[in-house]
Amino acid sequence: MAETLALAPDASRKQRYEALSTRWKSLLGNEPNRMANLANAAAVLKEAFDWHWVGFYLVDKQRDELVLGPFQGPLACTRLHHGKGVCAAAWDEATAQVVPNVHEFEGHVACSSLTESELVIPIVSADEIVAVLDIDSVNRDDVSAADVAGLTPLVDFLGQNWKAWE
Ligand code: SME
Repeated sequence: MAETLALAPDASRKQRYEALSTRWKSLLGNEPNRMANLANAAAVLKEAFDWHWVGFYLVDKQRDELVLGPFQGPLACTRLHHGKGVCAAAWDEATAQVVPNVHEFEGHVACSSLTESELVIPIVSADEIVAVLDIDSVNRDDVSAADVAGLTPLVDFLGQNWKAWE
């Protein structure tokens, strides 16, 4: 059964992360299909924070590329490659990328000309990066280490369940 988030309109970003972290498991934990859960994860994050774009790029092992997964927002690039862009940096370096101004990130892949800041967090399952969560904002300086801290438990839950969800 679908739930609504019902976040208070004046809730701070910190409060929104706290509310999501409490409810994440019940929102996603009862469905065994990975794509269904990633689709709802993108929808919940978009609803909670009204980001410009929220979605997943999945590691395509055969082609050694990132391929577009479930997302909310405008049309996006379907494939990303090692060594180019913010998503690839998170994948290549196995660390979250916080980019307050995408125009200062060399090689940034501009799927949308409206994006000003971006945050990408790798999703790890059994010690291997299987996907990245990508968030784009139309506002400069709209992402920070606080967002990484808020999103990390949510992303960890996805990684922990990745293989069980087929
Ligand atoms: N900007 C990303 C590409 C994906 S879109 O933002 C949806 C990058 O530099 O990897």
